[in-house]
Amino acid sequence: MQRWTIDLNTADWQAAPEAQAVCAALLNGDLVAVPTETVYGLTADATNGTACAKIFKAKGRPQFNPLISHVASLEAAREHGNFDGQALALAEAFWPGPLTLVVPKKETSPISDLATAGLQTVALRVPDGPVMRYLSERINRPLAAPSANRSGKISPTRAEDVIADLGPSLSFVIDAGPCPVGIESTIVGCIDGTTRLLRPGGLSREAIEKVLGAPLSGADARMAPDAPTAPGMLSSHYAPNASMILNASHASPDDGLLSFGPDPLPGAGQARAEINLSPSGDLTEAAANLFQAMRALDASGVKTIRVQFIPSFGLGEAINDRLRRAAAPRV
Ligand code: TXA
Ligand code: MG
Repeated sequence: MQRWTIDLNTADWQAAPEAQAVCAALLNGDLVAVPTETVYGLTADATNGTACAKIFKAKGRPQFNPLISHVASLEAAREHGNFDGQALALAEAFWPGPLTLVVPKKETSPISDLATAGLQTVALRVPDGPVMRYLSERINRPLAAPSANRSGKISPTRAEDVIADLGPSLSFVIDAGPCPVGIESTIVGCIDGTTRLLRPGGLSREAIEKVLGAPLSGADARMAPDAPTAPGMLSSHYAPNASMILNASHASPDDGLLSFGPDPLPGAGQARAEINLSPSGDLTEAAANLFQAMRALDASGVKTIRVQFIPSFGLGEAINDRLRRAAAPRV
């Protein structure tokens, strides 16, 4: 595995010899960890079934759980999926950005059936992080990328997290520092004329509903916990080793504490380890810090992590979704 460290504030990262080598690796069907604005992705050529199979194997991910394909533009996305009026409005408003759209797959799309788990729909995203877009454009192929973590574990927001989890499976890790959004994309399904929120994420429900001019529908029965179309896989997901207590009423000297906002929980000063996701109570900052904080509290060796109440509006919906999954019984 080779690590390629880049500074996104300089334009010349695209001219580095590693850029060429990464494209060659992707065209060869190898796996590359690529930063996006949300989390790091475990990336392969989405049109190459053998390469996609490597993703499932490296993650230990069940093959019925489909992958997101990343493309450079809405124009490129429309080669793979049929966008209805609402899907188009959302893509135009929020791409590039932390939004994935699940739409009917075009029969002419070369995206592998393995990437879509044989479904007739396809999950497409134009990320704001420039590296994924650049690679997709340069090799002229969609890039399949789930979060670059072992299935059921916490998503990676730094290259170190990826290397610790998946290093030996990778030909390259592209390190562009911490991911600014820090939580996975919001997934919206636009199928059969209904627009559904399939997974809350880095783009708030409120922002989406403002563009739609109507409330989002919920996921339907097909999105039941173990159905193939269930994004984010319910039950135990995003799981740290420690057990989690949500909406804790107080801290404990034996436990870790995940705080939020300016008002400390009773006993906060005595917690064995404490991290405040956002001392000012900013949900966007809290989302960016969430996975790193869970990893750090886990690494402190505490057996239990207590979590202070976090409101559920804006990015709080996605934060609470991930916390609930992290707290769910382990399977
Ligand atoms: O921010 C993100 O979305 C990151 C970065 C790397 O782009 N990716 C990510 O991928 O979170 P992953 O595989 O961890 O989560 C994608 C979710 C899965 O839970 C999967 O079930 C769902 O998307 N999904 C993919 N294709 C689908 C489809 N056709 N219908 C319904 N859900 C789908
Ligand atoms: Mg994931």
